[in-house]
Amino acid sequence: MTRLDDEFDIQRGPILSLAESHAGRLDDAFLSRFGAHAPRLHALFRRLYGERPDGLEQLAAVIGEAAASWNARPLELRARDAQREQEPTWFESERMLGAVAYVDRYGGDLEGIRAQIPYFEELGLTYLHLMPLFESPEGNSDGGYAVSSYRKVNPALGTMEQLASLAADLRLAGISLVVDFIFNHTSNEHEWAQKAIAREPEYEDFYLIFPDREMPDAYERTVREIFPDDHPGAFVPMPGAGNEGRWIWATFYHFQWDLNYPNPAVFRAMAGEMLFLANQGVEVLRMDAVAFIWKRLGTPCESLPEAHLLLQAFNAVLAMAAPSLLFKSEAIVHPDEVIEYISPNECRLSYNPLQMALTWEALATRDPRMLRQALERRHDLPPGTAWVNYVRSHDDIGWTFADEDAAEFGIHGYPHRRFLNDFYVGRFPGSFARGVPFQENPKTGDARVTGTTASLAGIEAGDPGGEDRVVLAHAIALSTGGIPLLYLGDEVAQLNDRSYADDPDRAGDSRWVHRPHRPAERYAQRMDAATPAGRVFARMMRLLEVRRATPEFAGNRLIGFDAGHPRVLGYQRTGDGITTRVLALVNVGDDAAHVSAETLSGFRAGAEDLIEGGSVDLAGGWMLPAHGIAWLRVTPRPEPVAP
Ligand code: GLC
Ligand code: GLC
Repeated sequence: MTRLDDEFDIQRGPILSLAESHAGRLDDAFLSRFGAHAPRLHALFRRLYGERPDGLEQLAAVIGEAAASWNARPLELRARDAQREQEPTWFESERMLGAVAYVDRYGGDLEGIRAQIPYFEELGLTYLHLMPLFESPEGNSDGGYAVSSYRKVNPALGTMEQLASLAADLRLAGISLVVDFIFNHTSNEHEWAQKAIAREPEYEDFYLIFPDREMPDAYERTVREIFPDDHPGAFVPMPGAGNEGRWIWATFYHFQWDLNYPNPAVFRAMAGEMLFLANQGVEVLRMDAVAFIWKRLGTPCESLPEAHLLLQAFNAVLAMAAPSLLFKSEAIVHPDEVIEYISPNECRLSYNPLQMALTWEALATRDPRMLRQALERRHDLPPGTAWVNYVRSHDDIGWTFADEDAAEFGIHGYPHRRFLNDFYVGRFPGSFARGVPFQENPKTGDARVTGTTASLAGIEAGDPGGEDRVVLAHAIALSTGGIPLLYLGDEVAQLNDRSYADDPDRAGDSRWVHRPHRPAERYAQRMDAATPAGRVFARMMRLLEVRRATPEFAGNRLIGFDAGHPRVLGYQRTGDGITTRVLALVNVGDDAAHVSAETLSGFRAGAEDLIEGGSVDLAGGWMLPAHGIAWLRVTPRPEPVAP
């Protein structure tokens, strides 16, 4: 056993020969990427595992797995690697459109998803996130987020071979497959967990297990409760004979056990699972629960510096063995923390939970100021990275805005979140929303909200603005930059499904209210303008079509715009080297709103209405209907020259 040395060069030789003995052969392509990325992986290992006697051995094993994985990488995936290398910011295109669905609920199984490819092409999808599809416990498995094997597909959904062939078919249709990398925890049925229960020391060291309550109590003084309905705090009793009195770390459900990343064997093992998935043809890995992967006593155990080092280390492994694969960060935390995960060395893509939450905030308050502030202050990203902008996900809506930001408008975070929760679960008088509370915590007053877009936006309640709000919320996600992500079913205004309450495996988790089965009858109505499904679908299809044809929507660059009206949000998008801009105007109010001629006087009067089509004249200002939107292609007037 050898520790890691300060100097990479001293250890390059031993690492390479260990890796070669593992992989059999190291080709030139691998060696060149090894030269580019192994030094940073070595430096990261030094910081994470510098004290460990087995540091060098574990690093060499990781690199050996990377080499073996590269050797096994199918030719068409190597071709994809080469193509993406030529076009590294492919995901910034205005043609990008993402969607997300559960395999069982949307398609029955993987074959059922394959059968939907023509519909995905009709929508213009280029990215499809299939919710966790791995082997997981019977009954409650947190929707598959409790993984029992990363190398086996849940038999009810299909096989790994079917997943790889689906990935290939999607690729032919221009769609990148996205799956989760659930690397913070495994299920308690995973082989490693079973061996830990049986007290095999090597695997006990894969998890965070304590002999009594002393350390759990100490940690719980500073950690948040994530699923208080399931268990208080972050620990659960360790099951199994001989484990009486012992506790194990479980941030989420009691059957999801957090991995012990300070042990480099855990990193090595998970890097192996990641590389396996990469070679099935997955193009984006959604890095689940990134904020939680490292713990330290006396801290909230979220977003610690080591969480970033770990992501960088996984990133370096990928860069050697599957260079076209991208990471997407799932950090639903304070916006200052969300941004820290986004860089070419960590995650190139990230959910944008702030914009999502503030879209709903603006609809409830009919006040777009917080959303505008976020777009102007928290939207910029490092080059080579992109937001994934969404209206809602399979999870709850958490009000993750920064209290400091809200305070600038005299808004206090705590009562404002209370108001938003009340509003969206329909407890606020006059609310148009029909959401359901999630994980209400009486100790802290925290709660989050669940519900489909249509139910939250007012269609379920019969509010006259409901359909407009569904369209409006999507129009924001489609026009602010990055990859817009659609929850399949929302484009036909699918409503909440309360039947989960009758299913004992789901009744305790209200997120199931917004994870319904594919709504076949609403899809059948999608061409029928006499139905809400048909009207919403037609308007959505128009927005999708316009977005793909609008180069100003590519990339992330956004310029603020003061629409001069208390209910109207404005922003401008401008592509690279394009002289025109797209001015987006969004009326979150329930009455028509007029944006004055003077407000628009910085643009030439002749403009183009992208959604309705045709030339328009801005000389008289612009009228937006209640909950109306406009995407106007405008030309800024030259700055007046000073005499
Ligand atoms: C993520 C998932 C969520 C799951 C949790 C635990 O937040 O989106 O659905 O419950 O991680 O894996
Ligand atoms: C996420 C979030 C939390 C969310 C949960 C899954 O990591 O931090 O707000 O509710 O996991 O639902």
